[in-house]
Amino acid sequence: MAYINENFIKIPATYLFSEIAKRVTQHKSENPSAEIIRMGIGDVTLPLPHASIDAIKNAAEEQRQAETFRGYGPEQGYDFLRNMIVENDFKARGLTIEADEIFVSDGAKSDTGNIGDIFGLQNRVAITDPSYPVYVDTNAMAGRAGQPSASGQWTNLIYLPCNEANNFIPELPTEKADIIYLCYPNNPTGTTLTKEQLTKWVNYATENEAIILFDAAYEAYITEENVPHSIYEIDGADKVAIEFHSFSKTAGFTGTRCGYTVVPKSVTAFSENGEKISLNKLWLRRQTTKFNGTSYVVQRAAEATYSPEGKKQVRALIDYYMDNARIIREALHAIGLKVYGGVNAPYIWTKTPDGVSSWEYFDYLLKDKNIVCTPGAGFGPAGEGYVRFSAFGNKEQTIKAMERLK
Ligand SMILES: Cc1ncc(COP(=O)(O)O)c(C=O)c1O
Repeated sequence: MAYINENFIKIPATYLFSEIAKRVTQHKSENPSAEIIRMGIGDVTLPLPHASIDAIKNAAEEQRQAETFRGYGPEQGYDFLRNMIVENDFKARGLTIEADEIFVSDGAKSDTGNIGDIFGLQNRVAITDPSYPVYVDTNAMAGRAGQPSASGQWTNLIYLPCNEANNFIPELPTEKADIIYLCYPNNPTGTTLTKEQLTKWVNYATENEAIILFDAAYEAYITEENVPHSIYEIDGADKVAIEFHSFSKTAGFTGTRCGYTVVPKSVTAFSENGEKISLNKLWLRRQTTKFNGTSYVVQRAAEATYSPEGKKQVRALIDYYMDNARIIREALHAIGLKVYGGVNAPYIWTKTPDGVSSWEYFDYLLKDKNIVCTPGAGFGPAGEGYVRFSAFGNKEQTIKAMERLK
């Protein structure tokens, strides 16, 4: 007889975005002529940079010829891409990260989800609330989260609430945390930490021999000076932090799939007999066993985002979305809502009016305004009473949606 992993049946059956899709489909079937504007799921809408398309075409031609054909590549990614990453995302910012500390992947979702493989089940995990759902759900799947409770919290996770009261700056945990997930610029709130604020977390991790899992998927959206693009800008982070990056939101790779994870060789955690073990070695072992590399063609497309023309095209994509973010922020503010994010991130986090619940406000916007947002409660208990608007839509549609709210 085969037994399942019991942890899977503890997790709420509907993933946030499937529930949204279900409600939208029902509304559409009841109102076939409704022109629905989607500002919910964080998928991009603009096509890939031309530089990446040209690189894909060239790489496809290489795959046509026996002389240039490539089969399995290195699981950790080709050097041509890892070197570009080191030069542009780290060296250019004065940071020392080496190519063998970069692990190219099919995106940050897989990596933020899979990283738990290298950590023991006894670790206490702290997660900002609200958060990108992958952190909580993958810890629940692994059996590290305990039991779900009526409050929406898992019994064994340490929640770090981020709300109006603390201006979305999480406080250090009162219980000792071993692994801490931080995502900045934040999905879903669009808020950031300054260098000083992030330093507190690096110091906490250093003092408590904890590891920070830092999700930097939106770093390219940062516009303000004192907001770190990488946790390695903070002294000591190279001993306590793993960082995740994605080409999805930066360069439109949501469907093309490429990201990378930085595991400095100096980051260690403990074996049960107290020995310090390099996490770089463990992650290499994990990836070479369970992952066979990102496609060659896609890695060439990612490499092209670092070429001079690629950089310009990527910047144009980001500017387009950030202009949408401005339009959304201003419109929501003008109708009297409290608005957060949207300055260093493509997400705008809004307090619902008159204390209505996230899902009630979601339903109101869907049914009365034909606008799809994301209910904040879907990102964790502290998201209740908020909704998230995404700036990844088409500009005309974004303007139209905001007109409807007036
Ligand atoms: C915070 C965060 N991390 C990771 C991801 C996943 O990125 P990728 O497309 O690279 O898997 C997302 C996607 O929405 C995200 O919001």
